[in-house]
Amino acid sequence: MEQVTLIATATFGLEMVVKQEVKALGFADLRVTDGKVAFAATLADIPRANLWLRCADRVLLKVGAFTAVTFDDLFEQTKALPWERWIPVDGRFPVSGKSVKSALRSVPTCQAIVKKAVVARLQQAYGASWFAETSGDYAIQVSLLKDEAQLTIDTSGDGLHKRGYRAEAGEAPLKETLAAALVQLSFWRKERLLLDPMCGSGTILIEAALIGRNIAPGLRRSFAAEGWPALDPALWLAARQEATAAIDHEGALQILGYDIDAASIAIAKSNAVKAGVGADIQFAQQDARNLWIDQQYGILISNPPYGMRMAEYQQMNEIYISLNKTFRKKMGWSVYILTADKKFPDYFKRSRPDRVRKLYNGRIETHYYQYYGDKPER
Ligand SMILES: C[S@@+](CC[C@H](N)C(=O)[O-])C[C@H]1O[C@@H](n2cnc3c(N)ncnc32)[C@H](O)[C@@H]1O
Repeated sequence: MEQVTLIATATFGLEMVVKQEVKALGFADLRVTDGKVAFAATLADIPRANLWLRCADRVLLKVGAFTAVTFDDLFEQTKALPWERWIPVDGRFPVSGKSVKSALRSVPTCQAIVKKAVVARLQQAYGASWFAETSGDYAIQVSLLKDEAQLTIDTSGDGLHKRGYRAEAGEAPLKETLAAALVQLSFWRKERLLLDPMCGSGTILIEAALIGRNIAPGLRRSFAAEGWPALDPALWLAARQEATAAIDHEGALQILGYDIDAASIAIAKSNAVKAGVGADIQFAQQDARNLWIDQQYGILISNPPYGMRMAEYQQMNEIYISLNKTFRKKMGWSVYILTADKKFPDYFKRSRPDRVRKLYNGRIETHYYQYYGDKPER
């Protein structure tokens, strides 16, 4: 089958997580650069990568790459690429761009030139002088880095964080891709107890349940490349059938979600049902300041409020003190906290964090504080 290069894009700090995921899907020949994991694939892998990648933002199809220091270079080499292989005569192809440390600095000009070059190429290929651009979704991106231009078409459409289960969001919900990464970076496995005592709309727990049940995160949505004539619909059907057959229905999951806010708990429950994991998570309205845990072993992953508003400040201190009290002696618990509040480790005194990762929650710089617990006895 025809070979292509796909690029899974990743939020800053998650490149290695995405690389692991790409590898786990069986791809070799991976190249990781800032925000991107490129890999060799076949056409059948476009549906697979879109359906299965949990932490990547999008899957791009690389159409070509070349050095460009003048606008002529950009035009001629873009025009030389086989755009008609992917874009049909009525296809809609908006162009976006970015430029970093490159001679061609004006992004609007680069976009306009790429658009003109693709039009010129398609005019030749289709013998048409004008394109109505009425159907489909073939979003082109020109990305310049140190004078190397890379041209891609987005196969995903909506970002991969849009799983199709979150009709309703609580206050400050995490992106699903980041929530999935928090779980992938933890010691949680489907046999283990997982708790989020400030679960909001339940994103972390829902993503964990999808992982636990081996449910492909993209099963409930569609993708831009699903409508491309260049991809046989049978490839999408086969990938969807394979993903449905791969769901692991065995055993019970132990996943608990609490929040002080009743409305958030209602939203979380409804989202979990929509995601197909309603029976796998037990939600309850509860104040984290009164948290009581019987179990000796478990995994806590949470994204507390960041205490940025004055009203939250006092409450945050009380929550940290309570977490410290509850987990100080529970060495069988691994505790993972994503927060922008740098004073968290001063309050959680069980030990110094085993690892701290810088991650971005949207535009907010946060840290993921990781405290490893003892492994459960067999
Ligand atoms: C940043 S949000 C969590 C968002 C969540 N990760 C999501 O994706 O929807 C923090 C949550 O902590 C909850 N919260 C605040 N104080 C709490 C407390 N004392 N006990 C339990 N939950 C609390 C808030 O209601 C809010 O839903």
